[in-house]
Amino acid sequence: MSQRWSRKNTRLPLAILLFMLLVTFTILYIERSIQEIHHDTNPEQNLREASRFTYVKPNLHANKLPEVLDRFSRCNSTNEYSGKKIGWVDPNEDPGQGSAEEEGCDVFSGKWVFDNSSYPLHKESECPYMSDQLACQKHGRTDLEYQYWRWQPHACNLKRWNVREMWEKLRDKRLMFVGDSLNRGQWISMVCLLQSVIPREKQSMSPNAHLTIFRAEDYNATVEFLWAPLLVESNSDDPVNHRLEERIIRPDSVLKHASKWQHADILIFNTYLWWRQGPVKIQWSSEEKGSCEEVKGDGGMEMAMNAWGDWIANNVDPKRKRVFFVTMSPTHQWSREWNPGSEGNCYGEKKPIEEESYWGGGSDIPTMRMVDRVLKRLGPKVSVINITQLSEYRKDGHPTVYRKFWEPLTEDRLNKPELYSDCIHWCVPGVPDVWNQLLYHFL
Ligand SMILES: *[C@@H]1O[C@H](CO)[C@@H](O)[C@H](O)[C@H]1NC(C)=O
Ligand SMILES: *[C@@H]1O[C@H](CO)[C@@H](O)[C@H](O)[C@H]1NC(C)=O
Ligand SMILES: *[C@@H]1O[C@H](CO)[C@@H](O)[C@H](O)[C@H]1NC(C)=O
Ligand SMILES: *[C@@H]1O[C@H](CO)[C@@H](O)[C@H](O)[C@H]1NC(C)=O
Repeated sequence: MSQRWSRKNTRLPLAILLFMLLVTFTILYIERSIQEIHHDTNPEQNLREASRFTYVKPNLHANKLPEVLDRFSRCNSTNEYSGKKIGWVDPNEDPGQGSAEEEGCDVFSGKWVFDNSSYPLHKESECPYMSDQLACQKHGRTDLEYQYWRWQPHACNLKRWNVREMWEKLRDKRLMFVGDSLNRGQWISMVCLLQSVIPREKQSMSPNAHLTIFRAEDYNATVEFLWAPLLVESNSDDPVNHRLEERIIRPDSVLKHASKWQHADILIFNTYLWWRQGPVKIQWSSEEKGSCEEVKGDGGMEMAMNAWGDWIANNVDPKRKRVFFVTMSPTHQWSREWNPGSEGNCYGEKKPIEEESYWGGGSDIPTMRMVDRVLKRLGPKVSVINITQLSEYRKDGHPTVYRKFWEPLTEDRLNKPELYSDCIHWCVPGVPDVWNQLLYHFL
């Protein structure tokens, strides 16, 4: 690595060299200011310093924590974006070392193979914890091929799902999914995959709450889900009542959620779709209650990813805690993207897309690059479950109209499924089972 660098360097024109020096200097300068902030013990002082540099150190344990946001929080004033960003330092960061995951086969590159002898890995009707939002068969879907597809990497095989072996990996551990409804779907899939071998009296599920817990007594293990759709603290952290007019986030703090996830042994995070709903209001920890700024969704997500990255960098020892990040889940809202000239959505789709590397408009490339950067910086502390490409192919995997809706579909809507369908979430059994199989592969 270093040799390649020095050979290249000698050929670089002077201007580029000077530019790179400048960049390096700037980065060092910024990092040093963050470090100073980080090591300073006076939080008030910290925040003043931070705003001077327009880089804010997130997740500060100030003496008086600002009041938490909830669904009743409001912005009494919304100012222009001040330009503050989240800056963090990874104490173990080794600039010479990239992510160590390169070796081996890329299991995320492959194709879907019809396999009705080994799939589905579980049965919808046999899972007492199925969600009515994902139970497509129960809600009238009759074409069931979507349950029978196996993911086949090009260069190797995925580990075969073995429920007993998975339980052994989970013995005496807490496995926790943290994120939005897509991640909740993956959690339900995991619980359904796992529960079949546990006698009914030896398993339990806590009521739906901010943190919901499935317990298996004999293994002394839990499989949990924490509702945190924006990762950082927000006014949408109530697992049921989060249909609000405006999103307000605290972009520099994951502490509210981290207090719930910090003792889990295996963590699976996601966040994406909630950032695609337009601008978000931000309320810095240092600002007075009710005083907000506004940023675009992707800008908000970058802040949240960095605040999250700061927590991971400073709290995760990869030898003792496994952390996974699930990349964005694609949507299939416009059939013209895979079938030019058509006007529908994913309704009526029965087969995966076969075109290699198909990429739909819902999966934002700049966002993917931003996520790449944050995860790369975290190196071995986080493993990627890169579901985006493989799920892009699965236009057939969504519930469409075969689910229970928040508000029951009106007749008018039922008659136009090509306009009103859920092309965001995924039927279970189905695509999320394979995401879990990938997780199993890496555990
Ligand atoms: C699997 O699919 C094939 C082809 O569609 C069909 O002939 C066969 O009966 C199916 N087998 C099972 C077990 O459903
Ligand atoms: C159960 O698991 C927890 C960790 O989640 C561990 O601290 C505890 O000792 C275990 N209990 C038994 C009886 O093994
Ligand atoms: C801002 O709104 C909050 C309610 O969200 C209220 O408690 C607070 O007093 C308001 N502050 C000002 C300065 O109006
Ligand atoms: C995920 O895979 C896509 C290609 O399918 C790639 O562009 C992206 O960089 C990957 N993201 C991560 C975080 O590995």
